[in-house]
Amino acid sequence: MSAGLRPAGSSFSRRRHIDPAFYLGSGKVAEIRQQVLDAEAGCVLFDAALSPVQQRNLEKEIGVPVWDRTALILEIFARRARSGEGKLQVELARLRHAATRLVRGWTHLERQQGGIGLRGGPGEKQIELDRRMLEDKIKQLQLRLRKLQRQRSTQRRGRRRGAQLQVSIVGYTNAGKSTLFNALTHAQAYAANQLFATLDTTARRVWLGEGLYAVLSDTVGFIRDLPHSLVEAFKATLDEAVEADVLLHVVDVSSAQAEQQIEQVQQVLREIGAQDVPQILIYNKIDMLDGPVPPTRRQMVHDGAHARASIDSFDVSALSGAGLDGLRERLAELARQRQAASALSDPLSDPLSHPLSDLESHAPQPPHDAADLEP
Ligand code: GTP
Repeated sequence: MSAGLRPAGSSFSRRRHIDPAFYLGSGKVAEIRQQVLDAEAGCVLFDAALSPVQQRNLEKEIGVPVWDRTALILEIFARRARSGEGKLQVELARLRHAATRLVRGWTHLERQQGGIGLRGGPGEKQIELDRRMLEDKIKQLQLRLRKLQRQRSTQRRGRRRGAQLQVSIVGYTNAGKSTLFNALTHAQAYAANQLFATLDTTARRVWLGEGLYAVLSDTVGFIRDLPHSLVEAFKATLDEAVEADVLLHVVDVSSAQAEQQIEQVQQVLREIGAQDVPQILIYNKIDMLDGPVPPTRRQMVHDGAHARASIDSFDVSALSGAGLDGLRERLAELARQRQAASALSDPLSDPLSHPLSDLESHAPQPPHDAADLEP
């Protein structure tokens, strides 16, 4: 599984009433405890958001660590974060998640102690120490992150001033975003990335022929019911999507949930304010299908907003490369339009419209690898 855990069993519960202390009823908790014992499981995952109290009570009752949905998503993100900034964001979000738990644990203990005048129990002191340590660490990370974000926004402003098409890859987790990113960059003998400075490992320049380039950036995978606190935490990364000229919305057509996943992604895009950025729907993994893409796995147009945002779609296999030529041609066409529009609005701001650089860009391009831009 994405978080590096092997499922030992599962349990389903449909509840009308959420128990404030345990989330589940006592019978269900006992059943899960038995399941954990039988399977010798080391951890229980809840596909729901648990309050700190519920998590603590469940851990006590079941006897193994309990993770809620936010903790699980953070774990997955932590394993996948590639850029320095992404790693810092995950670390910060994790500490914040832990801090709310500690702080509430502390107020809860305080009440147990009987209030003013009865402070200073050993457990309480430890929690206070942990809390201070967490707060210090959070402050340090915030400072480092702010510095990185300033650099990133300077980079982005620099890129925006250029004539290059800004393309951002978005999509549900596991849809094949990174595979597509690599197919469009690494596999391209002429992909080059030296223009873009440090730290932003997930933005690369893609050569589209005839002196045309696009800047392609990969974003974190979207997940069903992404907790709002996490959308906030990753806002800086997701800003790439908000400021893009076009989004490549990658869909895994081998998944029976393709249509729901498209809707989930649209929802996150609305949440971050990227609903009006034009989208090219990339129906990926066609090599896994026996026939054509079933219409039920394509985006259903429920309202005008999607229709307005979707400008095109391509059926591809990022893995085998099928269908990618058509996509590249479409990107080249958009890059040409972007270049023309930019030259009209401000000819001096466009390095590629300069006569000399034009000569340069038409010269045979040395094939070199699109290496990461790691500092
Ligand atoms: P997150 O990082 O979770 O957001 O995932 P992602 O969208 O970046 O997906 P990734 O590129 O990591 O691909 C997920 C899995 O799907 C990998 O095992 C890929 O090899 C596989 N995959 C991607 N594209 C294709 C495809 O066109 N065909 C097939 N058969 N598998 C693919």
